[in-house]
Amino acid sequence: MSRLVYSATLALFSLGSTLAYSYGSSQSQLAELALEKVLTDASPIFGVYQDGKKPTSTWMKNYPDDTPIVHMNIPGVHDTQTWNYSLATQQALDHITALDGEQMFPPEFFRCQEKPIISMLNDGIRAFDLRYAFDITNSTLVFYHSQALQSETATLEDVLFGYYQWLDDHPSEAVFVSLMYEGSTAIHAQNDAAVQHELVRTLTTDAAMKYLNPVKDHLGTLGAARGKITLFRRFDLDQLPASYTAEMPGLHFSPSNWTDNDPHIELVYNTKEHLTAYIEDFYDTNAPIGSPASLSIHWKYNATTANFLRAAHATGAKKDSLFWSFCSSEYTSNIPPETPKIQALGNGTLTPLGGVNQQLIPFFKSMKGKRLGIAMFDFYDQPSDLVQTFLDIQAPSHY
Ligand SMILES: *[C@@H]1O[C@H](CO)[C@@H](O)[C@H](O)[C@H]1NC(C)=O
Ligand SMILES: *[C@@H]1O[C@H](CO)[C@@H](O)[C@H](O)[C@H]1NC(C)=O
Ligand SMILES: *[C@@H]1O[C@H](CO)[C@@H](O)[C@H](O)[C@H]1NC(C)=O
Ligand SMILES: *[C@@H]1O[C@H](CO)[C@@H](O)[C@H](O)[C@H]1NC(C)=O
Ligand SMILES: *[C@@H]1O[C@H](CO)[C@@H](O)[C@H](O)[C@H]1NC(C)=O
Repeated sequence: MSRLVYSATLALFSLGSTLAYSYGSSQSQLAELALEKVLTDASPIFGVYQDGKKPTSTWMKNYPDDTPIVHMNIPGVHDTQTWNYSLATQQALDHITALDGEQMFPPEFFRCQEKPIISMLNDGIRAFDLRYAFDITNSTLVFYHSQALQSETATLEDVLFGYYQWLDDHPSEAVFVSLMYEGSTAIHAQNDAAVQHELVRTLTTDAAMKYLNPVKDHLGTLGAARGKITLFRRFDLDQLPASYTAEMPGLHFSPSNWTDNDPHIELVYNTKEHLTAYIEDFYDTNAPIGSPASLSIHWKYNATTANFLRAAHATGAKKDSLFWSFCSSEYTSNIPPETPKIQALGNGTLTPLGGVNQQLIPFFKSMKGKRLGIAMFDFYDQPSDLVQTFLDIQAPSHY
């Protein structure tokens, strides 16, 4: 948003009451201040808003409107909401998470990112995996990674306003938000009718109606998705009348059809037209206990590149299918435990080939011109050329 207008407005305010304001301008001033409040509320999850002006913040500008989204390579992030989940954040929330007495694990087990959403957007990330559930009082939808509460105050609705503002500032860009109901949060938490009602309310406000891509059960073209959020619904509304599901825009990836820890999910998201997504979500390697991190990293790299290769070499109807690969993983039940960070980035001299992210760079360089689909990274900003190397696979002139 325009910080300039905001600070100029404040400066005017401090001149005192000698200046007369018209009704209209004081209303718009209040709108600015209200937005400022919402973005501040969102900041523990969204980050502190700043209008990025770098080439990656508008990379989609170079692609024609009629580009089918299923033909694009779209960089994304897994467990987006965990970017600030340090020991300090975990401890700051102890008084809330202690209320349900669940055993808490070290923050490294839950943390999958280190940069805020606003930086992700400006760095070219366009697909976001976000996990919500009720806070412990069953009042607001907040963010978790398993039992790790990420903020008690930043709600899903607050965070969506961050995206709305960024899309206003970057109308050429299309954003894909995957919303998933996170299980195993508070001890009695359930995806019950109250949760589902609050989610529907959040996704049908006037603001949501303006910024959500109305496209349904299809991905469509980039032109139709620009300036909007296309929803990936990794949730069911099974406690509400069927009309609620019928009216929800976006693509439905029902959790009941998303098989757990599967390197090759075939998920039908449009039964009428038989549209299938080919998904790799092999996140827990379960290699033999005591095996080195390098083995787990290799297994994960193998599963991920196998799905990229399926996308690149698809023929017939599969050419127009959605391919979605998660480069993220963990193996925290190994001894010693492998955190998401060790899987993504390796563990120093113990993993001379690096983690999944380092190993993906030469792979991406070998895939020039190919469609790989959507790639969800952990620690997307490391190595620093990861996202750019992924974007460089498909020059806009390819279309
Ligand atoms: C990130 O976490 C630290 C430690 O809990 C906190 O002081 C800081 O305000 C958080 N950042 C944001 C943007 O909320
Ligand atoms: C929240 O909802 C769950 C599931 O319906 C219920 O078991 C729990 O008692 C509720 N908690 C509060 C504080 O009302
Ligand atoms: C799961 O997929 C099947 C087709 O493979 C479909 O008939 C069914 O409706 C899907 N389930 C849900 C809950 O969407
Ligand atoms: C590599 O991935 C392929 C395809 O998913 C699988 O068949 C094979 O067993 C994997 N090999 C290793 C060493 O993980
Ligand atoms: C990672 O490296 C540290 C320091 O060398 C070591 O203590 C730890 O056990 C290693 N973890 C894994 C999973 O390799």
